Amino acid sequence: MKFFIDTANLDQIKEANELGILDGVTTNPSLMAKEGIKGHDAVMKHYKDICEMVDGDISAEVVSTEFNDIIEEGKKLAAIHPNIVVKVPMIKDGVKAIKWFTDNGIKTNCTLVFNAGQAILCAKAGAKYVSPFVGRIDDTGWDGVQLVEQIVHIYNIQGLKTQVLAASMRNSNHIVRCAEVGAHVVTSPLDAILGLLKHPLTDSGLAKFLDDAKKLQ
Ligand code: E4P
Repeated sequence: MKFFIDTANLDQIKEANELGILDGVTTNPSLMAKEGIKGHDAVMKHYKDICEMVDGDISAEVVSTEFNDIIEEGKKLAAIHPNIVVKVPMIKDGVKAIKWFTDNGIKTNCTLVFNAGQAILCAKAGAKYVSPFVGRIDDTGWDGVQLVEQIVHIYNIQGLKTQVLAASMRNSNHIVRCAEVGAHVVTSPLDAILGLLKHPLTDSGLAKFLDDAKKLQ
């Protein structure tokens, strides 16, 4: 399973990348706005900076909703760097645009996916990734990981090549559960990634080992 970080914060991307386990980055307009990035040039430069930091797929989201505008915007995003994946919302024009991008050699990530029907459509259109939003489904009282499992199952039995990119991770347990049901990728905030490191018995065990090591000197 690949690990992507879900942020536009360069310090956090650097920290995750230095761990040596990072395979890519996902961003969205909300994450970009959180970093205070303003204006077209600044947005393009920020994506370029991320591409230069991480050797892996970097999702950059379109903010257009009409087919022709999505295509124009996506082409500009894809031209920033070969690792850019154009992130397209699960809407009718978005599906059409994913098919166009696929036919023209541009990688896509279909975002805002909340059911298996949407996931089937974006795979048929040829998206490289589908992004079911696990945490946001949990927020409504349902089980987001169950949707990831259902999509993985459907793609497997139908031979669909789109990779399931479990998004909207809220915690480390989401990451582990998505791994268990066969997600190809998870994209998580830094704290959920670092949370995987933690166990109190690791901390107390290490403290004891280090204490006993002093007796060896
Ligand atoms: C990733 O591609 C999504 O944009 C992101 O995971 C959404 O996460 P959120 O529900 O925490 O905003």
